[in-house]
Amino acid sequence: MKNIINWIFVGLVAIFSTASFFTSCNSNESSSGKTDNKDSVKLLVERGKYLAHDVCGCINCHSQRDYNKFSGHIVPGSEGKGGEVFNEIYAIPGVVFARNITPDTTNGIGKWTDEDIINAITKGIRKNGDTLYPIMPYPHYNQMSKEDIYSIVAYIRTLKPNNNKVPDRYLSAPIAYPVLKSNSLESNIKPDVSDMVKYGAYVVNSAACMDCHTPMENGKYKMDEVFSGGFTFNLGTFIANTANITPDSLTGIGKWTEEMFLEKFKGYRDPARFASNPGKLNSIMPWSLFSKMDDFDIKAIYSYLRTVKPVKHLVEKYPK
Ligand code: HEC
Ligand code: HEC
Repeated sequence: MKNIINWIFVGLVAIFSTASFFTSCNSNESSSGKTDNKDSVKLLVERGKYLAHDVCGCINCHSQRDYNKFSGHIVPGSEGKGGEVFNEIYAIPGVVFARNITPDTTNGIGKWTDEDIINAITKGIRKNGDTLYPIMPYPHYNQMSKEDIYSIVAYIRTLKPNNNKVPDRYLSAPIAYPVLKSNSLESNIKPDVSDMVKYGAYVVNSAACMDCHTPMENGKYKMDEVFSGGFTFNLGTFIANTANITPDSLTGIGKWTEEMFLEKFKGYRDPARFASNPGKLNSIMPWSLFSKMDDFDIKAIYSYLRTVKPVKHLVEKYPK
């Protein structure tokens, strides 16, 4: 974390160190800049919390989900402990488990350096050199700004350590390492918020909406039908097809106004909506988290989605 602290205050090019966040944070503070430093770290961690929970969904995948509640609401206290199973339901040849990303030094990532964590998040390379299965959306995080990635690292360092031991994955085919768009965080730019469409594209990428909302064929995304939905999640107790969120007016969300889109998300801010089991009408989309995105970010998502290619693709969200 030392590099992140350096980067905030001095703007130094990152030099990674093995120091942990809090120890280095204290030793790094100059007496004069103490308050400023603390405030900057606080802001960084707050931004990281927002991204990790409500935008990138790290906490959604890396915690325990309860599908007896709507949208697989997260079990309180399980944040970051890992263990969620990703298998053929996600078109994976085998089983991978979301890993323990709490700072526990035995079973979590407490001994990982900032660089180790950043490599996992943005390149899909584990500390031991293994490649992560790209269900972990590193091909998307790979394009996020350095500031945003640093803030996520700063935040996950503050999670409560949990000693949950996650089983090893099993894969029956080697991982096809995805083509990564960016070679370096330094060159990644977060578009200015004044450009709603570009900024919206950035948010949609950070939230990996594409991964669920694009149909697949032979384990590959059909990119000419991107965002047109129809990927089937069969979780046993319910089956949900992802919706067509392209601007096609008949089969997509072409007729939705910005207000309708915003209200759809905001409606899920009410915790009462996650208290009961909706049976067959459940969803895998983490509405409880995404709904907490800033109104502005939700509107930016809408602006961007208006600009993607409309695809005529009729999807029945809940097949009979
Ligand atoms: C769609 C679910 C999903 C999301 C979203 C997700 N992850 Fe992961 N993550 C996984 C899975 C599954 C693995 C393990 C993959 C494997 O074993 O090949 C993983 C692995 C990791 C690892 C490697 C840990 C280890 O012990 O090897 C780290 C670190 C990590 N994720 C952090 C994050 C962060 C930070 C975010 C948000 C920016 C995030 N993940 C978002 C599913 C997810
Ligand atoms: C984990 C998979 C998953 C992710 C990630 C995901 N979605 Fe969804 N989404 C679904 C599923 C399944 C449905 C259909 C069931 C429902 O309405 O909840 C859905 C439904 C929707 C709907 C409702 C459309 C309608 O016709 O009712 C919208 C809008 C939407 N998603 C937008 C998004 C956006 C924007 C993102 C990224 C911020 C996103 N989704 C990320 C799985 C996902």
